[in-house]
Amino acid sequence: MTIVTHACTPFEGQKPGTSGLRKKTRVFMEPGYVECFVQAIFNAIDGAEGKTFVVGGDGRYFNAETIQTILRMASANGAKRAIVGQNGLLSTPAASHLIRKRGAQGGLILSASHNPGGIDADFGLKYNVSNGGPAPESVTSAIFEQTTQIESFRTLDTEDIDLSDLGESKLGEMKVEIVDPVADYAKLMEKIFDFDAIKALFQAGFTMRFDAMHAVTGPYAKAILEDKLGAPEGTVLNGRPSVDFGKGHPDPNPIWAKALVDMVMEDEGPDFAAASDGDGDRNMILGRGIYVTPSDSLAVLAANAHLAPGYADGIAGVARSMPTSRACDRVADAMGIACFETPTGWKFFGNLLDAGKVTLCGEESAGTGSDHVREKDGLWAVLLWLNIIAVKGQSVLHILRDHWKEYGRNYYSRHDFEAVDAAGAADLMSALEAALPDLPGQSVAGLRIEEADQFSYHDPVDGSVSRNQGLRITFEGGARGVLRLSGTGTEGATLRVYLERYEPPEGDLEIETQAALAQVAAAVATLCDLEKHTGRTKPDVMT
Ligand code: G6P
Ligand code: ZN
Repeated sequence: MTIVTHACTPFEGQKPGTSGLRKKTRVFMEPGYVECFVQAIFNAIDGAEGKTFVVGGDGRYFNAETIQTILRMASANGAKRAIVGQNGLLSTPAASHLIRKRGAQGGLILSASHNPGGIDADFGLKYNVSNGGPAPESVTSAIFEQTTQIESFRTLDTEDIDLSDLGESKLGEMKVEIVDPVADYAKLMEKIFDFDAIKALFQAGFTMRFDAMHAVTGPYAKAILEDKLGAPEGTVLNGRPSVDFGKGHPDPNPIWAKALVDMVMEDEGPDFAAASDGDGDRNMILGRGIYVTPSDSLAVLAANAHLAPGYADGIAGVARSMPTSRACDRVADAMGIACFETPTGWKFFGNLLDAGKVTLCGEESAGTGSDHVREKDGLWAVLLWLNIIAVKGQSVLHILRDHWKEYGRNYYSRHDFEAVDAAGAADLMSALEAALPDLPGQSVAGLRIEEADQFSYHDPVDGSVSRNQGLRITFEGGARGVLRLSGTGTEGATLRVYLERYEPPEGDLEIETQAALAQVAAAVATLCDLEKHTGRTKPDVMT
C-alpha cells in the first residue's frame, strides 16, 4: 500500500456555501474533483497528521465512493483514525454527536441535505470542526483559498474497504473504525427525554407517522420510535434509505411531504406527524388538523423545553436566524432570557452554544436544535414535541392555540423564486439595497415602512462581523419583509422572500396564512420590482 502524490490543477468554484460545498453530482464525479477539495480541507486545517475524523453521509448516490476516496486520502495525509458510519451512513446530527463524544478533530459529512439525490441530482461535502458544528467562516474561507492554489493531492494506491463490516481495521497506517450509526445517538436521546412518558403515550393509543422520506433517518426513527418507545410498526414511513430517496425530494415541507400533510388534515388522521430531510437535520411538525411553522415550533419548544428532563433547569437563551419569525423573541422576553438574531446558517449558532449563551436555536428553514450537538437535529425536535405532548396531555393544535393566546401569533411564510437568472437576482438585491436609506416613512401597498437595512451580524463571542446577510424591511405594526439569495442552490439563483405579520393575543388568530400575509407580499413585490428583475410574479414554493 503506497502513498502516492498526484499533481492537480484547481477546479473553479469550490467555494463552500451556507452548508459546505454543494454541486451537481456529475460535477463531484469529475476526475480529481473530490480529491482536490478534500486535500484543500486538510491543507486548510494544518494537515491531517495524527488526527481523528468522523466520516459519513446521508446515503445518496456517490456517498459510498466518496467515502472510500476520503479514507484513502486521510490515511495518506497521516490521519490517526477514521470513525465511519456503517455502510457510509451517518445523519448530520449523529455525526456531530460522534465528533464531540469521541473528541475527533473534525468530520467530513457527505450530503446535499434536502436536495434530491442521484447521478443527475445533487451532492455535497461539508467539513465540521471539533465542537461538532459546521466549520465557521474563517475555516471555510481558508478551505476555499486552498482550492484556488492546490497543486497536488495525496492518496493511497489501494482497493476499497468493506463499509458494512462493523469494528476496527487498518487502512495503511490509519485505523478505520466502522460504527453502528444509530447506537450512540439513541443513547443521547434517551438521556435528554423522558422515554417512559413517551412510551406511556403510545401505549395509551396515541398515533403518529414519521416520514423518513427514503433518507437517512429511517434507521434512527425505527430504532428510537418503534423499537425503544414502542410505537407500532408502520409508524415510520419510507424508512429505508435509498440512493435517490425513492426519486423524491427529501425536503420536509408541505410541498414535498404533501402526502403526510394530507394525512393529518383528515379527521381520522394520526394525532401527530413529522418528517425529516435527506441528512436528518431538518424537521417538519404536524398535528391533526395543523401544520406547525418552524418559527412557531421554535417558540413553542422554547416555552416548554423545561418539561423534558434534559432542560429541566430551564434554558439559558434562544437564537434564531434573522429571517426566522420573531415568535421566539416574545417567549424569550416573557422568560427574561436573551434572544439572539444570527445570519442564516447553523454555523452561526456554534459560538453562542459553546459559550453557554443559548440552549435552543432554530431557523425558518425547518431547523431546530439545542446544545446537545452542534447541528440542527430533526429527530430531537420530534422527540421534544412528543415529550411536551406526553407531559401536557394536549394535542398539537391545543398547544399551539394556547401559545398564540398567550404570546400572539406571528403569521409567517417564505416565498421562494427558484432557478431565476443569477444576474437578474443580483440586480434586484443591489437596486433594493441602494434604495433602503430612503424607504423609512414611505408607504407601499398601504403599509408604512418603519425601518430598512442590510443585516450585519456582530458575533458577541468572537467579535467577527458578517455583512450582507439579507435586506430587512420593517412595516408599522410589526410586519416585516426580508429578502436574501439562497446560499445552498445549485442552479441559477434562488430568491427567498420572507414574510411576517404580528397579530396580538386579542386579535384574529385564525386567518389563513397566505391571506394574512397578502398585503406584506404585495408591498415587498413592489419595493423590489420583482417582475422586472426575475420575470416572475408567483413563487415556486411557499412554506
Ligand atoms: C441549510 C443550512 C441552514 C440554512 C438552510 C437554508 O440547511 O444548514 O442553516 O438555513 O440551508 O439556506 P439558504 O441559504 O438556502 O437559504
Ligand atoms: Zn439537512
